[in-house]
Amino acid sequence: MLAGALLAWAGGAQAASLTVGFSQIGSESGWRAAETTVTKDEAKKRGITVKIADAQQKQENQIKAIRSFVAQGVDGILLAPVVATGWDSVLKEARDAKIPVILLDRDIDPAGKDLYLTAVTSDSVEEGRVAGTWLTKTVGDKPCNVVELQGTVGASVATNRKKGFDAAIAPHANIKLVRSQTGDFTRAKGKEVMESFIKAEGGRAICAVYAHNDDMMVGAIQAMKEAGLKPGKEILTVSIDAVPDIFKAMAAGEANATVELTPDMAGPAFDALKAYKEKGTVPPKWIQTESKLYTAADDPMKVYNSKKNLGY
Ligand code: AHR
Repeated sequence: MLAGALLAWAGGAQAASLTVGFSQIGSESGWRAAETTVTKDEAKKRGITVKIADAQQKQENQIKAIRSFVAQGVDGILLAPVVATGWDSVLKEARDAKIPVILLDRDIDPAGKDLYLTAVTSDSVEEGRVAGTWLTKTVGDKPCNVVELQGTVGASVATNRKKGFDAAIAPHANIKLVRSQTGDFTRAKGKEVMESFIKAEGGRAICAVYAHNDDMMVGAIQAMKEAGLKPGKEILTVSIDAVPDIFKAMAAGEANATVELTPDMAGPAFDALKAYKEKGTVPPKWIQTESKLYTAADDPMKVYNSKKNLGY
């Protein structure tokens, strides 16, 4: 069934110059904006025409964009799915039109696995685990109350980053997750939710903040500073993405750790699509990107400067 669907997608066509539709979530974070920039650059390098539809965080807009790409008869579709569920009908439409879909940076429910060609993502459970393990090692056996800023509700990466972090801290009775709420991956909401955590817990009762992305952490750092607290010193921080601003915060002693997520998801996706269209090569179902931990010990200003060429 799966092999049949994939062969139908391939269609045996030679793809001299491909046109690809990209349904992007929006621009909620610095990482997301960089992913869009990198996608344009990588398309240009390969002579691919890319049409980008910004969904402004709404799944309904993504569904409309995919339908429009299908109607235009594009050669392939890149989809960064805002949430994990609700894709079956529209992805079946793409499959019926023999247009391969590649997921970027987020997954859909496992039941939809035969509806896309491959997924270029990190192991987001592992990202949470790396963040949690860093915290357990840094805290040792001291008591530590942690607050968590979750990503968008229903997004695979939010579910998985929570899962991995929870698993890492579970064996450590001294570390307690006392508050957890969504900040929707944005700076503004990260700040707002952190302000409410500080109010509810009393700032000095909080030992660490875990944020599912750096943008929310940058907002949370601001909230802590405005409350007279010292993030990075009195309150530990660990987040995900490795955007330039978190390295600036590390250099200022206001952030402690981040787990890197590459914004170059499109490069491997375009390579897989080209090989598939031109040679019928079926890629692995998961093209995994690396998850690397950075701490304040990693010369943050050097990393900050090197990130400038990566689309930020
Ligand atoms: O899906 C990847 C996540 O989406 C990034 O960590 C976050 O910054 C973005 O909004």
